[in-house]
Order: sequence, then structure tokens, then C-alpha cells
Amino acid sequence: MTAEIVVYGATGLVGRRVCHELDAAGAAFAIAGRSKERIAALAAELPAAEQRIATVAESALVRAFAGARVIVNCAGPLDEIGEPVLVAALAAGAHYLDLGGDQRFMHAMLERHESSTRRAGLVAMPGAALNCAIGDWAAAWAAQHVCGTPASEIEGDVLRTEPAAPLGADRPFDDVSISYIYDDLVLSPAGQRAVFANLHERGLAWRRDRWEPVAPASERRRINAGVAMGGERDVASFPGGDVITVPRHIATRAAQTFVSTTRHRAASTALRLLARAMPLVPKRATELLVPYTPKDYEYERTRFAVVAQVRRGFSGAQIVVGGGDQYLTSAVIAAWVARQLAARSAGPVGMRAPSELFRPAPALREIAAAAGMTLEPSFA
Ligand SMILES: NC(=O)c1ccc[n+]([C@@H]2O[C@H](COP(=O)([O-])OP(=O)(O)OC[C@H]3O[C@@H](n4cnc5c(N)ncnc54)[C@H](OP(=O)(O)O)[C@@H]3O)[C@@H](O)[C@H]2O)c1
Repeated sequence: MTAEIVVYGATGLVGRRVCHELDAAGAAFAIAGRSKERIAALAAELPAAEQRIATVAESALVRAFAGARVIVNCAGPLDEIGEPVLVAALAAGAHYLDLGGDQRFMHAMLERHESSTRRAGLVAMPGAALNCAIGDWAAAWAAQHVCGTPASEIEGDVLRTEPAAPLGADRPFDDVSISYIYDDLVLSPAGQRAVFANLHERGLAWRRDRWEPVAPASERRRINAGVAMGGERDVASFPGGDVITVPRHIATRAAQTFVSTTRHRAASTALRLLARAMPLVPKRATELLVPYTPKDYEYERTRFAVVAQVRRGFSGAQIVVGGGDQYLTSAVIAAWVARQLAARSAGPVGMRAPSELFRPAPALREIAAAAGMTLEPSFA
């Protein structure tokens, strides 16, 4: 069976999980990476997968991606190696997706590769992971209810075959907020490095119909995350990828992402103040921070709730998505998106948000069933 899907960075924490998801689903896929030894070691766990070796040099990547319909980029940091992988996927005639919810990378890729992806008749979907895809789908599903979208459209086929009109185009929303709430958050070494690197960066928030630079943790709110996650929690703004994707399909005056990593108010305030003070620490000092390497089983302890809230005048809606193990959940999402795109015969092309390619409610239900997540819609 020729590989339809190539997983680049297959040897990483998430890459390995994506490969096991594809294997369990019986997909025809190849494992790819820069190290022959590490790819051979992984192949011992996945005997059905083809093996492809390539550094991030473009010609090597295009060769490794030959014949594939979809490239899943699990290699990071995306800031350094995301763009060459995306360019090589397009050159090889394949759709591209990655798991990074990294806002800066997503914004830059949209600016640079939107038209080349569209002209190639291909799809690039950055952020096919917990942080971005789940928030994007949950916000769109909530917005459909406020707009009175017909049930036939909400519950249609999961794959969109035509681009959909933006929600609220005739009467924009006042606010879309997506909060990522964690208990026992365990970050991979790559995740920790991404946090350290972003400490100095101003993020973007969608305000007054445009992206504006904002300081980290500059906005805070109280969000009810549900009984299982400790009820009311303080959340602080952070630069999520959904801030980039949501305004593409929901007409809204404001969109912001928030995070809470602790139930304790005092700790939450301390973390917010720390986040605001970090840009004052010399960049070289944060480069010295050494990530801790958690054991594999520690990732399973993390519980999360993604709370998407939309508001227009006196109408509002909320969806809460609950689950655990953000790395396994993200792998389930990426493997699901890859299989859907590999099987797709027609649909929107170009750089696309999750909700532009998939109907949000059916997508969330399919992924919730596969990843053991709960969905709690409340439509006022
Ligand atoms: N948005 C979300 O919710 C979410 C959740 C989880 C992960 N992620 C994203 O998923 C990505 C992977 O994270 P991870 O925790 O799996 O990282 P990881 O365990 O450090 O794995 C990184 C992978 O990238 C490869 N790699 C690193 N530098 C490379 C280079 N210069 N050339 C080629 N390959 C290179 C590594 O290959 P070697 O094995 O050869 O070193 C490894 O396969 C990151 O972008 C992360 O932000 C996002």
C-alpha cells in the first residue's frame, strides 16, 4: 500500500502518538524524520509503516513526501522548521497540517503562503491539535446557534465541500473568547521551550476588526469551567492560535484566548504578574532555562476544559469540551484530520481554519468519541 500520509517528526512525543493512531485506523502512512536510527527504532513498533529519511533541506523533504496526499508535520519548533516543511509539502503536491497552536507562526504562514496554497489547489491547516482546533470548532458551533443556523447545516456531513459564508456577516458578534483550563498540566520539553521562547513576545488579539499587539496576561476574566475543573476560575489572556483562525469564519469585533493552569487564586495572580514581568528579564536569561523531561505516564494526569463563549447583544452561547492528556488528544485530532483530507475529493483550498474545512459539531463529536472527550453545549 503506497503511503497516502507522511508523518514528519514521527519520532517526537506527539509524532509517535499520531503514528499509532494512524496505525490503529489502518491508514497507509510513512514515518519520516532526520535520523535513520530513530526512524528504524520507531519502525520496530510500526511494521506496516514505510520509512523515509530527510533533513529539513527542501529537496530532501520533497523526495520524502513524494506520492503522499497529506503531510502531518510533528517536527518542532515550528518557528524554525515549520516553513520549509510547509513549502516542501506544497512542492510535492500534498496537503499540509501541523499541531502547533503557535500564533506567531500561524499569522506569518497565512501572510506568506495563503495564495500559493490556494493556487496549488491544496489545503494547509496549522493548529490541528487541542490548542486551536478544539477552540475554533467549539466557538463556531456556539456562534451557529446564536445565528440561528438551520439544523441541516449544523448537522450536515463533517467535510465541507464548499466554503461557508462567515457567521454573523450581517450582524457581527461582540465577543468570542476561548479559555483553556488545565489541572495537573504537564508540558513536554518542546512545549516548555515554546513557552520560554514566547515569554518575550507580544501576542495578537482581535480587536476593532483587526489584529492588535497586546502584552501577555494583560486581560483577565472569571470563567466557570464546570464542577469537575473546580467551578469558577481566573483566566489570563495568552496568544492562542484561535485568535488567528476564528475571525476567518466568525464576523466578530473581538476574539481572545485565555488560559488557567491552577485552581488557586493567589497562584493564578502570581503567574499573571510573572507573565507580565517576564519581558523585562533579559532574553539570554530565559534561554538558560532547561526543560524538565516528564515520564510518559505523567502526561495522562493532565485534565482540561476548553470553554468557548460567544456573545452578540443579549444573546450568548457556550460550549465546554472536557478531556485529559493533551498530547494524546492532539494526536487523535491530527490523525483524524489527516485521514479526512487524504480521503477528500473536493472542498475549500488554501490556508484554512478548522471550521472552514469541517462542520464544527460533527467534527467535535467524532473526535470526542475517539479521544474520550465530553461536550457540554449551553445555548441561551
Ligand atoms: N497545539 C497543541 O495543543 C499542541 C499539543 C502538543 C504538541 N504540539 C506541537 O507539536 C509539535 C511537536 O511537539 P513534541 O512535544 O512532540 O516535540 P518533541 O517530542 O521534541 O519532538 C520534536 C520532533 O521534531 C523533530 N525535530 C526537531 N528538530 C528538527 C530538525 N531541525 N529537523 C528535523 N526534525 C527535527 C525531532 O526529531 P528527532 O527525534 O530526530 O530529534 C522530533 O521528531 C510542536 O510544534 C508542539 O508545539 C501542539
